[in-house]
This record gives sequence, structure tokens and C-alpha cells, in this order.
Amino acid sequence: MMHLSGSMTISPPSKGGIDLVHEINKLRKKRNAVILAHYYQHPDIQDVADFIGDSLELCRKAAATEADVIVFCGVHFMAETAKILNPNKTVLIPDVNAGCSLADDCPSDKFEKFRAKYPDHFVVTYINCTADVKAQSDLICTSSNAVELIKKIPKDKEILFSPDKNLGKWVQAQCGRELTIWEGSCVVHENFSEEALLKLQLEHPEAKTIAHPECLPNLLGLADYIGSTTKLLKYADESESSSFIVVTEPGILHQMRLKIPSKIFYDVPGIDGCSCNECPYMRLNNLENLHTCLLNMEPKIEMEEDIRLKALRPIELMLEMSS
Ligand code: 13P
Ligand code: SF4
Repeated sequence: MMHLSGSMTISPPSKGGIDLVHEINKLRKKRNAVILAHYYQHPDIQDVADFIGDSLELCRKAAATEADVIVFCGVHFMAETAKILNPNKTVLIPDVNAGCSLADDCPSDKFEKFRAKYPDHFVVTYINCTADVKAQSDLICTSSNAVELIKKIPKDKEILFSPDKNLGKWVQAQCGRELTIWEGSCVVHENFSEEALLKLQLEHPEAKTIAHPECLPNLLGLADYIGSTTKLLKYADESESSSFIVVTEPGILHQMRLKIPSKIFYDVPGIDGCSCNECPYMRLNNLENLHTCLLNMEPKIEMEEDIRLKALRPIELMLEMSS
């Protein structure tokens, strides 16, 4: 138990009197498991993870791990990507319902019809999609490498970009080339309030505004810097500025404050001040179900081998093409 000044104490997170962190550590060793976590996970999960990163880094970690078991504390498409890369490893996700609105907005049958309308286009798909959709794609990208990868595609090739229209429009402007874009969006990033952001900018004129490219264009237009979660963290660390207004899921503020304790970070609320700036899917994972999944070795990610092999090609191409 940790004692704070005065009479306050913090007890370790527990379930029925069990010290969850201690039990997770024991099971992690016993199973030879690696715990990978996205920046949007609850701080408790980030604190027990072996590695925290953005979707590209997590993909690279999953490809390189020598552990027998990968516990993916993130959303379903991320754990699925780890399984595509590691068919012989057990891949677990604490809550199998941790989905993603972008993946949900792009069902495989509708995607197939969309593709069929543009048979000569090169199909670039954001990693936030199901294995079935990846299996129909030529190249996968993340928010961290989308601009870099699209710039490498020959100029005479037309491109389909799915499923995030906000990321797509931003990439289009960065690359100076027209994309045919699927109309999907992220429920979290579409919910940041422009009014609240403008108010924060007035209150803290010295602060730099940093935003994730899944945000709506009007919000991105107010940002000093736009990038993936890892890039936002790196920018905040390297920038001369000492305060930042962060327009993305506030889970990342935990790492920002840990890694850069000398700087100040403000999160932006959702429209009407709701807490819908937190990803409802990411937040389904917690220490309790992380412990239970290591204990019971489920829920496991499984998929058909032919889908896995088809989905592997565009992921491997992304890993080869991105620096
Ligand atoms: P990153 O690629 O920045 O990790 O973003 C993933 C995501 O789901 C953002 O909502
Ligand atoms: Fe999907 Fe949005 Fe959640 Fe990211 S923040 S996992 S894009 S719903």
C-alpha cells in the first residue's frame, strides 16, 4: 500500500481481495505472455503493459515478439492484426467486444461492392478495419505512415482510401493527390467540440494544439501539429512549447504526463461537455478482465486461414514500405 502525505493511502487495484497487478505479473511469467497496450487504454492497463504504442508500433512489436502469448489491450482489429502476423501464437483480448466504429462502418460485403465500382484502383485501407476487409486490400496503412505510403504509390495509379473519411481528406491534402474515399468516421474523434477547443485556445494562448488526423477538418484546421498518437507524444516532447491542447482520446495524456512531467497537457471535451472523448471500445478493457483472460486463456482471436493469408499480404507490404 502506498502512503501519501496526510492520511490518504492508495491501495493496489484488487478483485475480491486479490492484488490484480501481482496476479497479472505471475500469470504473465507463467504463460510467457507479452502485454501490448494502445495509448487509449485506461492508465491502470498502461502501467502493467510491457509495451505501449500507436497502431503501427504495436503491429511491429506483435510481428517481432518471441512470447508464446500476446495479450492485446486495445481494440479487436489490433488484436486481429497481431494474430494475422502470428498464426502459431495465442492472441488474447481482455474484452472481445472492444470493437471500433470505423471497422463497424465498413462491412466486408459493402466494401466488396465499393471496390467493384473501381476495379483499376489501388486499394489502400487504414488498419482500423476487419481482417475480411484487409484481405480485400492492396496495402494497409496507419495514421502514422498513411502520407508516407501514399506518396510512394506511382502518380498515375488511382487510389481507393477506406474507411476513415477524415484521415482520407487530410492525407489527400498532404499528398496533393485525389483519393476516392469511403465515408466512415470515428465516433470519438468526430465528437470533439470546436467551441470547447476555441475556448481552451483563448484561455491558454501559449499552448500548442496537437490533433489526431481522425478529427473533423474544422478541428484539424485549428491545430499546430497533426499526427498519430506516437507522433503527438514525440512532438510534445521535442517542441519548445511547455503546454499543449490535445485533440485525441485522453488516454494518451497519461503517457504524456509520465514521459514529459515538466509540461502541461489539456484535453478537449466532447460536444456538450460529455465524456464521449473517451473511446467506449478501448475502455472496455480493464485490469479485471486482463487478469481473467490471462487466467482462462480466452477470449482468443481466431480466423480462417485463407482470410489470414490474404490479409497478411497488404500488412507485410506496409511493414516493408514504411520507414
Ligand atoms: P494510432 O494509429 O495513432 O494509434 O490511432 C489508432 C486509433 O484507433 C485512433 O483512434
Ligand atoms: Fe476506433 Fe475511434 Fe476508438 Fe480509435 S478511437 S479505436 S478509431 S472508435
